Amino acid sequence: MITKQKGTYDIYGDLAKKRAYVDDVLASICEKYNYGYIETPVFESSDLFHRGVGESTDMVKKETYDFKDRGDRNLTLRPEGTAGVVRWFIENKLYGNMTDPVKVFYNMKMYRYERPQSGRNREFTQWGFECFGSDDVMSDAEVISLAYNAYRLLGLDDVTIKLNSLGDSESRNTYREKLVEYFKPHINNLCEDCQERLKSNPLRILDCKIDAENDILKNAPKTLDYLNKESKSRFEKLKDLLDMMDINYEIDERLVRGLDYYNHTVFEVVLNNSYALGGGGRYNGLVETLDGPSTPGVGFAMGYDRTILAMEENNVNIPINDSIDVYLLYVSASEKETACYLAQDLRLNGFIAETDLMNKSLKSQFKSVDRFNAKYLVVLNDNDLKENKITVKDNKTKEEESINLNNLVDYLDMHI
Ligand code: HAM
Repeated sequence: MITKQKGTYDIYGDLAKKRAYVDDVLASICEKYNYGYIETPVFESSDLFHRGVGESTDMVKKETYDFKDRGDRNLTLRPEGTAGVVRWFIENKLYGNMTDPVKVFYNMKMYRYERPQSGRNREFTQWGFECFGSDDVMSDAEVISLAYNAYRLLGLDDVTIKLNSLGDSESRNTYREKLVEYFKPHINNLCEDCQERLKSNPLRILDCKIDAENDILKNAPKTLDYLNKESKSRFEKLKDLLDMMDINYEIDERLVRGLDYYNHTVFEVVLNNSYALGGGGRYNGLVETLDGPSTPGVGFAMGYDRTILAMEENNVNIPINDSIDVYLLYVSASEKETACYLAQDLRLNGFIAETDLMNKSLKSQFKSVDRFNAKYLVVLNDNDLKENKITVKDNKTKEEESINLNNLVDYLDMHI
């Protein structure tokens, strides 16, 4: 038997219905914030993700699905959404003459070679959004507001935004130097990965899972102490805006995020101090890194799978329709044609309708009525049909009525 791959799963049944509900909620809030939908290809040139996300990041070093196609091209399965959206932005020259920001959202499958565990998979979905063209801190606030309110609309009222600032490149470089200076004497007390990170990406030491409780990490210099004047005042303005909008946030000075492209604002969304449900921030250098003209950008991506898990764990009521409107039963084969066209007619009029496709006995069809949890059932028999009549029965009250066949749609419209 061929089974699914580790870290992947099938989406069907109730999970598919829950996802459809979450999709609707998220698409509708994005519409209110005036973000348009985008989907980028599942595979792109490896260079895009390697350079965009950063060669020294864990994602590129350990997690990307890199392969050569039959034409010997180096390709990578999309591990995150931002780099592809930036490629689209540059390729379509959307940077020219920007009088308004370009705002897009996506809902896409991502691929990372990670150790699968609850809420972490190798194929997973991210819902995310990106805003290009504005360097005003108001756009950081708008992105945080969209992320925050999306979770609340989904019923996760207790989410907190963990917030930090890495400052501009000058502040980030000063901080990086301080960190290297600080960690160097302690190098042998850090895990192997952190020893490597000290050379390649010292900021990442701060969110090492292995050394998380190590006092060396806890006492490390904090980003906010190394922000230059402009970066500091920007961060203060952002906090003011979040206060004004009543957004629940906490400063987390160890939050650096795993990808290389961030500067200034970085944030994550957490529930009950558990793992991150989503994360994002500002990436003013990324368009340039990917060969476009210098353009500011800010965005966020939600771990979709983790969000649905969190909704389930927190007993959020996810509306799932587990009933159908009407089941058409037929007494004998001679009524099948009527069942067939009537089912289509009902469906085209907006009802969820079922009929028997398995040549079951009438008794077994009645069992299907209950299995499908039908609100109404209609029994078709030749004697009634000759007079253009059918019997409609309310499956809950068990009340039944004989009506004209042509009035079925109106009848159900009035009763459902
Ligand atoms: P990220 O933090 O790598 O950021 O991913 C965002 C979210 O995706 C995470 O917080 C997590 O909930 C979810 N996630 C990540 N890996 C997995 C996995 N293996 N299984 C399930 N869920 C996962 C980014 O990807 C950035 N592109 C976010 C961004 C957008 N920054 C600016 N714009």
